[in-house]
Amino acid sequence: MGEVNHAVLGEKAVAPPEDFRRQARIRSMAEYESQYRRALDDPEGFWREQAKLLDWFEVPKAICEWEIPHAKWFVGGKLNVSYNCVDRHIEKRGGKTAILWESEDGRTLPISYRDLHGRVCRFANVLRSLGVSAGDTVAVYLPMIPELAVTLLACARLGAVHSVVFGGFSSVALADRIRDCGAKVLVTADGGYRRGKIVPLKATADHALESCPAVRSVVVVRRTGEPVRWDDGRDLWFHEVDSRAASDCPAAPFDSEHPLYILYTSGTTGKPKGVLHSSAGYLLQCAWSMQMVFDLREDDVYWCTADIGWVTGHSYIVYGPLANGATVVMYEGAPDHPAKDRFWQLVEKHRVTILYTSPTAIRAFMAWGNEWVERHDVTSLRLLGSVGEPINPAAWRWYSEVIGRGRCPIVDTWWQTETGSILVSPLPGATPTKAGSATLPLPGIVPRVVNLKGEPTEPGETGYLVIERPWPSMLRTIYGDDERFRRDYWNRIPGVYFTGDAAQRDGDGYFWVLGRVDDVIKVAGHRLSTMEIESALVSHEAIAEAAVVAKPDEIKGEAVVAFVTLRASATASPELREQIADHVTATIGSIARPAEVRFAQSLPKTRSGKIMRRLLRELAQKGSVTGDVTSLEDLAALEQLARTKGIDES
Ligand code: WTA
Repeated sequence: MGEVNHAVLGEKAVAPPEDFRRQARIRSMAEYESQYRRALDDPEGFWREQAKLLDWFEVPKAICEWEIPHAKWFVGGKLNVSYNCVDRHIEKRGGKTAILWESEDGRTLPISYRDLHGRVCRFANVLRSLGVSAGDTVAVYLPMIPELAVTLLACARLGAVHSVVFGGFSSVALADRIRDCGAKVLVTADGGYRRGKIVPLKATADHALESCPAVRSVVVVRRTGEPVRWDDGRDLWFHEVDSRAASDCPAAPFDSEHPLYILYTSGTTGKPKGVLHSSAGYLLQCAWSMQMVFDLREDDVYWCTADIGWVTGHSYIVYGPLANGATVVMYEGAPDHPAKDRFWQLVEKHRVTILYTSPTAIRAFMAWGNEWVERHDVTSLRLLGSVGEPINPAAWRWYSEVIGRGRCPIVDTWWQTETGSILVSPLPGATPTKAGSATLPLPGIVPRVVNLKGEPTEPGETGYLVIERPWPSMLRTIYGDDERFRRDYWNRIPGVYFTGDAAQRDGDGYFWVLGRVDDVIKVAGHRLSTMEIESALVSHEAIAEAAVVAKPDEIKGEAVVAFVTLRASATASPELREQIADHVTATIGSIARPAEVRFAQSLPKTRSGKIMRRLLRELAQKGSVTGDVTSLEDLAALEQLARTKGIDES
C-alpha cells in the first residue's frame, strides 16, 4: 500500500465513439453526473423510481432499512422473480427468443419466452411434486444447457432457494456445498461436453451424495446418453418427470427480502462461504444495470460467455437479461472447440451485438492470433464488456481494435459475487474510457479508496476499495454464518463494506482495481482461496505442511504455486509432484490444480510460527528474495529454497 503509480495517472481518456453515443440511453457525462447526484442526494427517491422496472404484486412501502450490516430493500413489496423474467414478457414478446442455446458441436436451439414459460412451469411442478416448497434449497450441478436456466427460474417461481455448484468442482467440493446449504434435492445431468470429451457429472454427483444423506431426490438431465449408475429410489430422469408435469403453475407472490439463492465463493479461510442473495433488490439492480451498462435495446443479441456456475452467469445470463426481455446467447462449450475461432463463428452466426467476456479469454484470443477473428464477420458487435479480473491495457487495446474495430465501446465492469451486480463501470455512451480502468461508479454506488483507518488515499496511491452505502443487490449474509458476514465485510474498516480489493483513484477520480489484498486469487477469472488449496494439500498423506501463493500468468492472470514440505516417510519425485496436483484436482477441481508444486525442506516462518507468504510469493514470482528477512526463524531454509527453487528430487 502507499506506492504511487505514475502509469495510472498518465493514461488518457478516450471519448465514446460518436455513432454509439448518439443512440445510447445515456449520452453525456452531464446526464450521468446528474443521475449520480440525484441518487446521492435522494437515494430513496432514486431507487423508488428504478423499482418501476419490475412488476410487483404489492408495491414496497419503504425503500431501505439499514442497520449495519443488515439491509432490507423494498420492504413490504411482493413479487415473483420468475414472473418478472418470463410471464410478463409473453404478451408483448412471447415469440421472441429468450435463450439462444448453442451446443458445443454447433447445434442451435432457440427458446422463445412462451416456450420458456412452459418449461419453467412444468419443472416447477416437478420440484413441487418432490416436496420442494418456499424456503427449501435445491442444489444444482449442471453443464451449460437450457435446463440450467429453467431450473433456476423454476426454483424462483416456487420461492425455493437455488444453490448452483460449478460443473468443474470435484465430488468433495460438491458434497461440502450440498451439506452446507442443506439441500434435499439435486438437479444434475448424466454428463456434459467439454472440448468434445464427456465430463461425467452424474458419477461425480453419485460420489458426492455418499456423504449427503439428506438428499432424497436427484433429477438427471440426459445430455450425453452415456450409461450411468442409477438409484431407483432416488434418481429421476428430467425428461420423464417433465413430460408428465402440468404446464400451469401460477407464480405466487413473495416478499422482497425472500431469499433467492446461495452461491458459494472463496474467502480467506479454507471453508467456502455461501453468499446469500434475496429477491427484489437483487433482481432490480441486475435488470437496471443491464440497461445502464449494456445499453440494452429490444433487438440486441446479447452474449455473456461466463458459466452459470459463477455469479456472472446468474446475474448476466439469467436474471438481468431475462428480466429485460432480452435475447441471450448461451453457449455450452469451450472457446477453442472445434477450433480457435469458435467465438467469432458464433458471433457471426447469431449476429451477436453485445459480447461480455473475461480478460483471460481476451488474452488467449490475442495469443492465438488475429487470423482466427479475421475469418469471420464480427461487424454485428456494437458493445464489448470485460469482467472478473483486472484487464491489462494491452489486452484492452487488442479487444478494442481487433474485435471492436475501434467502433465498439468497452465496458470494464467491476463487481463481485457479494455485490450481486455491476457497481463500477463506464456507461458506454457517456463515460470516456481509459484502458485498464473500470472508471466510475454507477448512480447509487459510493465507493472510496481508503487506508486501514478509513481515510481517503491520494490520487495514484494504493488503498483498499470500500463501499460507503448499502445498495439493493448486496449480499444479505453468509448463509448460516452472520458472524463471518460481519467480520469479513463490515468490521475491517468500521462503517463501510470491505471489498477485499486494492485500488487507486487517479486525478479524474477514476477507479483502478488492482487485485485482491487477501488470500483470494483469481486464476482464469475463477475465484480461489489459497487456504482452501492448502487444506486440500495437507490432506495428502505425503505432505506435512503447505503454503500456496499466486504467480503472474500471461494468459490466466494468476497461477497457483504450491510450496510443500514432506513427511519423513515420503520422498520427493516428479511422480509425487503429479500425484499431489491430482489430489488437489480431486479435492477441489481442476480449476485449483497447482501450476507448480515445489518441495521444500522447511517453510520460512516468523518467530511466532506464521508462514511468510510474502517471501514465498516473491520467490514464486521472481525466483529470488530481496525483502526484509530478519524476522525469519529459518533463514537457511529460505536461502536454500531461493537458491535451488525448492530442493531437488535427488
Ligand atoms: C475481481 C466476479 C478488476 C476483483 C464478478 C473482485 C475485477 C473479484 C473486475 C470478484 C474488474 C472483478 N477489474 N478486478 N473489472 N471484476 N474483479 O466474486 O478482485 O468471482 O473482488 O465476481 O474479481 O470475483 P467474483
